[in-house]
Amino acid sequence: IPVDPFDLVVFGATGDLASRKILPGLYRRWFAGQIPEGARIIGAARTEMDRPAFLDFARKQIDEHVGATKHDPAQIAAFLDILDYVPIDAMGEAGWEELRLKLRPEAIRAFYFSVGPALFGALATRLHAHGIATPEARIVVEKPFGRDLASARALNATLAAHFDEAQIYRIDHYLGKETVQNLMAVRFANILFEPLWNAQFVDHVQITVAETVGVGGRGAYYDRSGAMRDMVQNHLMQLLCLIAMEPPYHFDPDAVRDEKLKVIRALQPVPQTDIVRGQYLGQRAKGACDTDQPGYLEDVGDAESRTESYVALKAYVANWRWKGTPFYLRTGKRLRARTSEIAITFKEPPHSIFDEADESWRENVLVIRLQPNEGMNLKMMIKEPGPGGMRLVQVPLDMSFAEALGEEGTDIPDAYERLIMDVIRGNQTLFMRGDEVEAAWAWTDPIIAGFEARGDKPQPYDAGSSGPEDALMLMHRDGRRWREIRE
Ligand code: BG6
Repeated sequence: IPVDPFDLVVFGATGDLASRKILPGLYRRWFAGQIPEGARIIGAARTEMDRPAFLDFARKQIDEHVGATKHDPAQIAAFLDILDYVPIDAMGEAGWEELRLKLRPEAIRAFYFSVGPALFGALATRLHAHGIATPEARIVVEKPFGRDLASARALNATLAAHFDEAQIYRIDHYLGKETVQNLMAVRFANILFEPLWNAQFVDHVQITVAETVGVGGRGAYYDRSGAMRDMVQNHLMQLLCLIAMEPPYHFDPDAVRDEKLKVIRALQPVPQTDIVRGQYLGQRAKGACDTDQPGYLEDVGDAESRTESYVALKAYVANWRWKGTPFYLRTGKRLRARTSEIAITFKEPPHSIFDEADESWRENVLVIRLQPNEGMNLKMMIKEPGPGGMRLVQVPLDMSFAEALGEEGTDIPDAYERLIMDVIRGNQTLFMRGDEVEAAWAWTDPIIAGFEARGDKPQPYDAGSSGPEDALMLMHRDGRRWREIRE
């Protein structure tokens, strides 16, 4: 879909997110021919620098974060041509008039708040005071969107004082991932699965987002958040919504978000007995190839920290479709592989006509791999070949999107690229609405309050493992088991 000329202002343009994701992502869209003639990207930050210095900075980010196949000097030079920079004081008046003069009345205006939430109010106020924000202007905000219901409400109120909900784009970058959107295509563009997509036929759902990285240099932020706030309240919650929601009447922003909201509101409170928290341990060098890796406590510099770097829990969606079907969620850092997937395990056929010893073989499992190797895998029972009688064997119907779609399947835009283009197109489908965010916190808050009331330390787990032992029990005691974490 073509995009109209726009002026995109990136506040916090010299920060980490802008350097790693936003600027390189915009360049890749330029390279793909998606940024129209007449588009302009204006960096704005406190740092005093002139345009050439900012272009140098942007060029370095592109060199560092854009792969060789798209690294074309002529294209980079042409892209840098549309960039500009204004030093601006979010808390004062310097720079705002200059910014106003740079914006063109006829172009779409979008303002990316790539800054801490403490500055949202100041930016919003000044955009209005200086007559920069038009009624059609769009603003983009990032997580963390609050750290509990009260702070999320306060942030929503701050934004609502200046902008309509239709102007606010709250990013959850998981929604920009290709395969996450594919969940909706798989469910609602095929007749095959939807009739079975309910408590009558689904035994349980597993949602796994496993990472190999630790908290690294983000210790100060992370230790105040933990996996529950950092990953479950937003990313895993969004995945759960896309799996559990009713078909929207149309692929339309509010129709989709209305259905997701209903799922969040239907989530039952989770008892502490259905939650396992973990903290990764350090890894000491064993051989020549191994390096010392600090454990969580060392990473955050607090030997007493009770923040979790891993969480597993069992959730129920209390509605007609899902009554009684458990959704097992887990996410953690420093696990054995970087892999995100959703596995839907169907119930066994009601009656077996075969004399099979191993009952567990009869389950069909649909696995949707979000990353890496985006694809789908449907485990089916077939007859084992050979003359040895009617023996059954489970085989995968395996599809990698890259293989199925050729080049198109491998050239998948980064989540941020897609989402930024959606902002310019004015499409809010893949952005969180204010009420969704609040509902997600309303479910998360009592869980975190429960952690605090318990006051216990998360269970330690080895770096490179599948997480704490107790997480296995969460499944075992229900007669189920987690899928293996592997790439
Ligand atoms: C971020 C979290 O939102 O998502 C990080 O703050 C996490 O802690 C990251 O590492 C994971 O994103 P991705 O795209 O690498 O799966």
